[in-house]
Amino acid sequence: MSEARSGDEVDAFGAWIAQRMGLHFDADKREFLADVLRERMQKTGCMHAGEYLKRLENHLVGTAEARELAPSLTVAETYFFRHLDHFRAFEEVVLPNVLKRSGGVRRLRILSAGCASGEEAYSLAMLLERCLLDRAEWRIEILGIDINPAVLAKARLGAYSAWALRETGADVRARYFRQKGSEFVLSDAIREMVAFEERNLAEEDFGFWKAETFDVIFCRNVTMYLKPECTRAAVARMERALIPGGYLFMGYAETLRGISNAFHLCHSDHAFYYRSREAGEAPIPGPIQEATIPADDSATWVLQEDASWVDAIQRSSDRIAVLAGPGGTQPPGMKPAPGVAAAARWSLGEALELLRQERFSAALECLDALPQEAQADADAKLLLAVLLVNAGRMEKAESVCGQLLKADELNAGAHYLMALCRERTGDLSASAHHDRTAAYLDAGFAMPHFHLGMLARRTGALGEARRALESALELFAREDASRILLFGGGFSREALVTLCRTQLQALGGGR
Ligand SMILES: C[S@@+](CC[C@H](N)C(=O)[O-])C[C@H]1O[C@@H](n2cnc3c(N)ncnc32)[C@H](O)[C@@H]1O
Repeated sequence: MSEARSGDEVDAFGAWIAQRMGLHFDADKREFLADVLRERMQKTGCMHAGEYLKRLENHLVGTAEARELAPSLTVAETYFFRHLDHFRAFEEVVLPNVLKRSGGVRRLRILSAGCASGEEAYSLAMLLERCLLDRAEWRIEILGIDINPAVLAKARLGAYSAWALRETGADVRARYFRQKGSEFVLSDAIREMVAFEERNLAEEDFGFWKAETFDVIFCRNVTMYLKPECTRAAVARMERALIPGGYLFMGYAETLRGISNAFHLCHSDHAFYYRSREAGEAPIPGPIQEATIPADDSATWVLQEDASWVDAIQRSSDRIAVLAGPGGTQPPGMKPAPGVAAAARWSLGEALELLRQERFSAALECLDALPQEAQADADAKLLLAVLLVNAGRMEKAESVCGQLLKADELNAGAHYLMALCRERTGDLSASAHHDRTAAYLDAGFAMPHFHLGMLARRTGALGEARRALESALELFAREDASRILLFGGGFSREALVTLCRTQLQALGGGR
């Protein structure tokens, strides 16, 4: 019988899984990992966790173990036509574009990365079979890859339960499936359009991720289980493997914010997806990751409570100070002390405090007095846009938001402020578009849901209004206090919650 494992050994096992398979497990999954470790020790006849972990150091053994572990460690939940909006966007926007660009080559290559039991890849095959009338003249390649050999075996079999077809219309069922007992067996014609391969997204493989190999990649509901660094590396490979102007679809809860700025964000109806840079197009600007700068004890905080967004602003001022370096702009006669170049030479603290006091003009003057380099900083500009909106200077606010979005299409705060600006001009559809984008880019951001709810109420879309306000109500409870200060229009959390409740009651769905 295997020995009990110490916390350190479970941690070492978790670190190995993260490194080899890219998978991330929160601290509350430690017991689960301990169980998996015990099971694998038993199966491999290891008496001690240390012995099992030592075996993993051998690359070949590690690869074999990753295959064995995949079914226990991964979530393979999927179904046909999951996130129908994506398939609509694929049919209505992506496919016509890709076909137009392919010129005389008549070749279409699609990758379903993290395909699980194949429903996503087969859904695409069915869609192409239906939409591409001259399909016989096209070379269509649809490839599904996954780390889990068990789900791939199921994908190759092509037999599914009724549950997997819960979003599949009766006509599609009738056309492409044959019922056999309780199972639905996919037609050979569709099965033959798709190939499956076992592959690990956490592994570099230059042979596979060759430049310009795919026109479209679906990688949905996969990166949410991966370490951010693994997602960054995997997305970089996908970008390389896409044709210029190729498309990437991710899950509803996954964004490229903080992961990559090699893509444009696309939006049609309720679907978000990405398009890679065109050949010769300049790099798409935008921050990927905060530079890590050691905490500076001397930093003075105006806002003490729950200040993560403000922390980010302050870190940004520190970053500029570091980049300016010893030769950078500094008050005449002042020399940075050795090793303290990171000390901020400008701060947004005073302007933030003035915003808290609702002294918008004074806060604007304060920003205006900052050095040029500070004013060019994205966070300082976002604060400027917030102040301009609060001061009712919407035209100028919109211009600042425009600059921010030009520099970073994935800036959730700028999208939200843009929604307010567009509403003021009466362009409600653009306003709702920016709200939806902000809410998609930052799943915890309450204000865009609230604003979307109010817009929907105005336009009589009562169901949407109710849904958006319910989401806002839920999110306000845990929304970052500094973000409420910045984007809450002077309302406290309690006031926003009450507003939400009142609106919901008026809509007949009060809580
Ligand atoms: C929730 S399913 C998503 C299925 C489908 N894409 C969808 O959206 O319905 C996630 C899949 O990602 C796969 N996966 C997780 N880590 C992976 C890795 N490192 N390499 C390849 N596939 C991985 C899992 O095995 C699982 O089948």
